[in-house]
Amino acid sequence: MQNLSQLDVQGKRVLVRVDYNVPVKDGVVQDDTRVTASLPTISALLDAGARNVILMSHFGRPKNGPEEKYSLKPVAPVLEKVLGRPVTFIAGTADSDETLAAVQALPEGAVALLENVRFSAGEEKNDSGLNGKLARLGDAFVLDAFGSAHRAHSSVSGVAAQLPHAAGTLLQTEVDALGKLLNGAERPYVVIIGGAKVSDKIKVIENLLPRVDRLLIGGGMAYTFIKSQGGKIGESIHEDDQLDLAARLLREYGDKIMLPVDVIAADAFSADANTQVVASNAIPDGWQGLDAGPETVKQYSEALKGAKTVFWNGPLGVFEFEKFAGGTNAVAAAVGSLKDQAYTVVGGGDSVSAINKSGKADQIDHISTGGGASLELLEGKALPGVEAMK
Ligand code: 3PG
Ligand code: MG
Repeated sequence: MQNLSQLDVQGKRVLVRVDYNVPVKDGVVQDDTRVTASLPTISALLDAGARNVILMSHFGRPKNGPEEKYSLKPVAPVLEKVLGRPVTFIAGTADSDETLAAVQALPEGAVALLENVRFSAGEEKNDSGLNGKLARLGDAFVLDAFGSAHRAHSSVSGVAAQLPHAAGTLLQTEVDALGKLLNGAERPYVVIIGGAKVSDKIKVIENLLPRVDRLLIGGGMAYTFIKSQGGKIGESIHEDDQLDLAARLLREYGDKIMLPVDVIAADAFSADANTQVVASNAIPDGWQGLDAGPETVKQYSEALKGAKTVFWNGPLGVFEFEKFAGGTNAVAAAVGSLKDQAYTVVGGGDSVSAINKSGKADQIDHISTGGGASLELLEGKALPGVEAMK
């Protein structure tokens, strides 16, 4: 990719695609990780003498034009605070003449945030008319929205073709950090994959298996693997259409894959369900596994010891319920404790919030701001945003 230092921004209006698709509740941003992650690029552009930095992002998935609940306005004060300077929020749709006029009226050195770019019809279709309208807003384009780099949308890849462009610091950092998990990872290399569904992660699992020494499976997807071996999983979540695939992976890579040996079973999917610890292949009828059991946690922590590269994506249990957060928290602690001995990467919204909650976030080498984007990168797919910056 072309990097920031290769782009001439002196005296220029620089249009920057960021990913400010952050959790917002009652008009208040709940987690500013993605906002903070965009600061190095913004500062670098201002330091390099950019006339203006014009930030654009999507937020949520609005389908019918502007809608109050999808406004990016709540992000502006958060950005002002972390950036330590005023930010002009421009309320019109990004492709409107009003927005163009507001951008042109910005005083030298001003930073602006545009309204949700998905309010413009055409954004998700990478519409050429919209690409041209967006290109009017800057003299140069920087893509820093790693979390959106898997979308071939106007504001990600479409507009890039019309302006001199480069990858921002965050995009570059993410691609480098995740790239190390695919090529040249130091061994032993241990991956922990959790989450509800095999089908969501299967391509990542298949792409990583030949590269890793151990793959620890957790969360709801484990029950599909256990059932494929004839285990009794009670009412546990599973995917019958993935059983053959799970069985094949265990045949081919059985020496690398670890499955939970015990689970915390519950008599209902609820925060105050009754629980018991049972063997993962002998879950009683009417019960369902909602977290990894103590023996599993011990085995997985043991498997992580001595690792030189570790990647973790996806929770090990229903960690939204305190009772079933133990397995996920234990893995967060185990991965965090590897700080000095291993290169550690955590990706995916749930594991990132678990690592943040565990207080171990500062022990991790790289915490990815991308969910879908990090998975697609690890599947070995070319990301449209990354390709556009080459
Ligand atoms: C995300 O949060 O996963 C990214 O911002 C992409 O959002 P999208 O899945 O709506 O494209
Ligand atoms: Mg997503």
